[in-house]
Amino acid sequence: DSTELERRFQLRVDEEQRIEPKDWMPEKYRANLIRQISQHAHSEVIGMQPEGCWITRAPTLHRKIVLLAKVQDEGGHGLYLYSAAETLGVSREELIDRLHSGSAKYASIFNYPSLTWADVGIIGWLVDGAAIVNQITLQRTSYGPYARAMVRVCKEESFHQRQGYQSVMALARGSDEQKAMAQDALDRWWWPSLMMFGPHDGESAHSAQSMKWKIKRESNDSLRQRFVDQTVPQAEYLGLRIPDSKLRWNEERGHYDFGEINWEEFENVISGNGPCNRQRLAHHVQAHQDGDWVREAVRAYDRKQLDRVGA
Ligand code: 3HC
Repeated sequence: DSTELERRFQLRVDEEQRIEPKDWMPEKYRANLIRQISQHAHSEVIGMQPEGCWITRAPTLHRKIVLLAKVQDEGGHGLYLYSAAETLGVSREELIDRLHSGSAKYASIFNYPSLTWADVGIIGWLVDGAAIVNQITLQRTSYGPYARAMVRVCKEESFHQRQGYQSVMALARGSDEQKAMAQDALDRWWWPSLMMFGPHDGESAHSAQSMKWKIKRESNDSLRQRFVDQTVPQAEYLGLRIPDSKLRWNEERGHYDFGEINWEEFENVISGNGPCNRQRLAHHVQAHQDGDWVREAVRAYDRKQLDRVGA
């Protein structure tokens, strides 16, 4: 009976066994993974927009090539993750419909505008930096296809973070205007980057169950703290100020204490009322429609193959 099946399933998870597509799994485990993996994929694809709009305006050919490579990587991460979600028995069309209908989320961070060239470097340094902290732990998630996708994604994320930090370093060491541009971008992206890790553990709807099933290996707050601890020294090295008057090293804790996140803003953005939510979704809907001829060509080709083998 299903309680015995669930007991055996939990035993496998407790023994650090990977769960594979053909294994028995609780329907709620399947649904939780489809939710998280597809929203992760949506985030990667929507995340191409704030940076993509700077490819034609990069200051040098070198910066243009690096940004082009990064944005292409993000698209690839999205496709990789959609494929991992599909192993759980959901179709790509269904996942895209949920994004377009607003029933599926994507990372709040991508609903902020990228106003200057400095934003591109700050996004690489902070957003990809935060994504790496989260995704390194997801390499050990209990669902096989997701964990293996993360190994590949993490390799490419380190390049994303390094190129971003290096770009901000060039600005911080440049003219006063360039340094001011970097500081302005840091002021705008710092707090939204902390929101990437989700609500406090106590307010997190999924964390308890996701930790039990080892979908989530570390809590939202502990990953956020790790990100702050590693990033503050990097900002100091650049001579940039983090916009948080409560930020200070706490010797007893061995961590940085920092201010409270604006959770009203967080709720606003994830419920569709952030600065760029409508624009990001409209862009994705338009791009999806513009690509319909490609999907139609694939379907026509498949039909031809089927006719040929007389299936
Ligand atoms: N943006 C949007 N929604 C968020 C969010 C955020 N920053 N943080 C939490 N949420 C949503 C959750 O999805 C959930 O809503 P749902 O039930 O409709 O899905 C709700 O808020 C409650 O949050 P929980 O903490 O209970 O949800 P999770 O246990 O899923 O934890 C998470 C949230 C830590 C983001 C987790 O889903 C996760 O680790 N996801 C995989 C990583 C990911 O998606 N990263 C997004 C960025 S990808 C990226 O940055 C690309 C890089 O290359 C630039």
